Order: sequence, then C-alpha cells, then structure tokens
Amino acid sequence: MKKTDRLVNILASDIEHKDVLEVACGAADFSISAARIANRVSCIDLDDSRLNNQVKQNNVHFQIMDASNMSYSDNEFDTIVIYNAFFHIQSQWNMIERECKRVIKGMGKIYIIGTWSLDTNLMIDTFGDNAIWHDGFLIVEMTK
Ligand SMILES: C[S@@+](CC[C@H](N)C(=O)[O-])C[C@H]1O[C@@H](n2cnc3c(N)ncnc32)[C@H](O)[C@@H]1O
Repeated sequence: MKKTDRLVNILASDIEHKDVLEVACGAADFSISAARIANRVSCIDLDDSRLNNQVKQNNVHFQIMDASNMSYSDNEFDTIVIYNAFFHIQSQWNMIERECKRVIKGMGKIYIIGTWSLDTNLMIDTFGDNAIWHDGFLIVEMTK
C-alpha cells in the first residue's frame, strides 16, 4: 500500500466526506490519496514543478498559492494537512499557522505530519510531546 494511502487510513475520520486542504503539497501525493474518500480536496504550493500529473484525474484542485497569504475565505476547510513539509516552511510557520487557523472551520483539525528525519527532528523540537508517532508517521494535531 502507498505510504499516503496508509496515512489517509489513519486520518480517515477527518478525511472521509470532508473538505480537505493540503498545504505545501509538492507532488500532492497525499491529496491524491485523500481524494478517494474526501468530499473535496484542494492543495497549494508556491510552484507546480513537482506536481504529480494524476492530480487532475483524481479531482484534486491545485493552485499556486503562498500558504502565508491564502486567498481562501475564513472557515472553508474541515481538515488541513501539511505532509513532509515542516522543515521547508518552518521559518514562515507563524504566518502559515495564522492562515491555517483562519481558513479552517471551527471544529476543524490541522495536522502536521512528518516521516523524514529532517521534518520529524524539527517537529519534536518545536512541538515537544504534542508530536506523537502513529505507525511510522509523526503527527501533530491542532485546532483553531
Ligand atoms: C518537501 S516539499 C513538500 C513535500 C510534499 N508535501 C510532498 O509530499 O511531495 C516542501 C514544499 O513546501 C513548499 N512551500 C514552501 N513555502 C511555501 C509557502 N509559503 N506556501 C506554499 N508552499 C510552500 C515548497 O514549494 C515545496 O514544494
């Protein structure tokens, strides 16, 4: 099973029939996996150079957008996922966190997830005991 399919299974209760946003999506492999069960999947990155060409076939809506200044309305998404990208956005985290909390619905969840040591070491330094391992994925769960 693909790694991102396993992750979607772990997060299923926050993905199934939900409006999901993947931030700093790169190839958008997580979004493609989430699209199997989500209501709607949007994903954003500063560029599309690594974007997987299966994105369109899987009904995933990609946009070039700066996560620190999103064009989405307030309270648009049920679930936001940042997958294997924390190292790359760390210097902008305060602004990105503020934007994620603006576009997430009141009861929504924000997940920061890492599998690479570059990301996981930094997540442990930043979030301490709030970073918890689940089946090979280090997961930080946040609310609004
Ligand atoms: C390691 S890659 C992401 C990996 C991706 N989640 C994947 O699984 O393929 C980190 C990404 O963060 C993106 N990024 C960095 N700063 C960003 C920002 N302010 N807004 C949106 N994307 C950003 C980069 O363009 C890069 O594609």
